[in-house]
Amino acid sequence: MSPMRYLRRSLGWKLFLSYLLIVIVAVVVLVGTANFHTSTALNRHIVEMQEALLHGVHAAEDLDASLHAALNEIIAVAAFVAILAAVIVSAFTVRRIVTPLQAMIAGSQRIAGGDYHQRVPMASQDELGALAQSFNQMAEALEQTDRRRLELIGNVAHELRTPLSSIRGTMEGLVDGVLPPDPATFLGIQHEVARLQRLVHDLEELSRAEAGQIPLNRRAISAIELVSPAIERLRPQFEDKGVALDVDVPASLSASWADPGRITQVMLNLLGNALQYTPPGGQVSVRAWREEQALLIAVQDSGIGLDPEHLTHIFERFYRVDKSRSRAGGGSGIGLTISRHLVEAHGGRLWAASPGAGQGSTFTFSLPLAS
Ligand SMILES: Nc1ncnc2c1ncn2[C@@H]1O[C@H](COP(=O)(O)OP(=O)(O)OP(=O)(O)O)[C@@H](O)[C@H]1O
Ligand SMILES: [Mg+2]
Repeated sequence: MSPMRYLRRSLGWKLFLSYLLIVIVAVVVLVGTANFHTSTALNRHIVEMQEALLHGVHAAEDLDASLHAALNEIIAVAAFVAILAAVIVSAFTVRRIVTPLQAMIAGSQRIAGGDYHQRVPMASQDELGALAQSFNQMAEALEQTDRRRLELIGNVAHELRTPLSSIRGTMEGLVDGVLPPDPATFLGIQHEVARLQRLVHDLEELSRAEAGQIPLNRRAISAIELVSPAIERLRPQFEDKGVALDVDVPASLSASWADPGRITQVMLNLLGNALQYTPPGGQVSVRAWREEQALLIAVQDSGIGLDPEHLTHIFERFYRVDKSRSRAGGGSGIGLTISRHLVEAHGGRLWAASPGAGQGSTFTFSLPLAS
């Protein structure tokens, strides 16, 4: 880095140089004024001294007093001019530092008041400029968080509305005598209540996952042990629907460093989706293999697949490709969001791939190996 560039980026050096400049200016002005003023002051006092000598009274004291007076006058004038110059130079440097700081104070106060559009200008390349940049990044992050918060409230309200209006409709039908008070009617209500409960549970999980507050109870565990609980739990549902479930997980695979409970949750989500989005007669397979320093686990299905434009969005909360289809299955579009957070909390990644709609999809995640 060239010295000039370094200088432009360092507030410390700028301050040091400005102090140096003030001292130099003060000294130059002091010397200049002293030189300029010396002859005038001395001449005046020499005249006074000559008069004193002529009269001969207390000659020595008068001479001494005159010299002191001349010297004091020179110093007083020079010091005054030097201080004036120093004040002007330092006012300039202080303004360059204080103005951006004041802008940041004003900006942060407006942000504290809820106006997240605030940005401050980046006037310099030094630490103050870097501070302004971090300030703007913080404002951007706050603005995004606020937008997401509003979005979340909107989404939650929307998700609650459907089951609630369904329950209300059934209740009104019961009260009006339009619906018979038989088990089928009450089962309908129970179904909607269960859906609400599941939604609330998922939302709790989501908020904890997004806040990074899911404690991991990690241990070295083999791949087969990791995937088996979810497979065994869902196997009956696969059989009921007529979807084949293949498992290809070598027992010899190196152990990974993971929380079995949380990975079971991820596997339940992925297998649950595969089952939900694969028509009867289809096939789902679970595979695991090692790649470099990671264990990879993939859930592949021959189901409805995903168009490329949906592939990245499906991990966003409440995102569903086909709203009506997922609603029928009770999905709210949170499962993959939570799964991705859980995998990332392990230091791994979760991603989706699909050749296109109608051609099945594959969800793969990585986990670190136990060292
Ligand atoms: N295996 C899959 N095949 C095709 N589409 C899928 C698959 N898995 C997920 N999707 C799409 O991604 C969307 C988001 O999935 P996600 O699991 O997050 O939500 P969901 O299954 O709708 O609801 P839930 O919160 O109950 O899991 C789904 O609505 C679906 O459109
Ligand atoms: Mg799901």
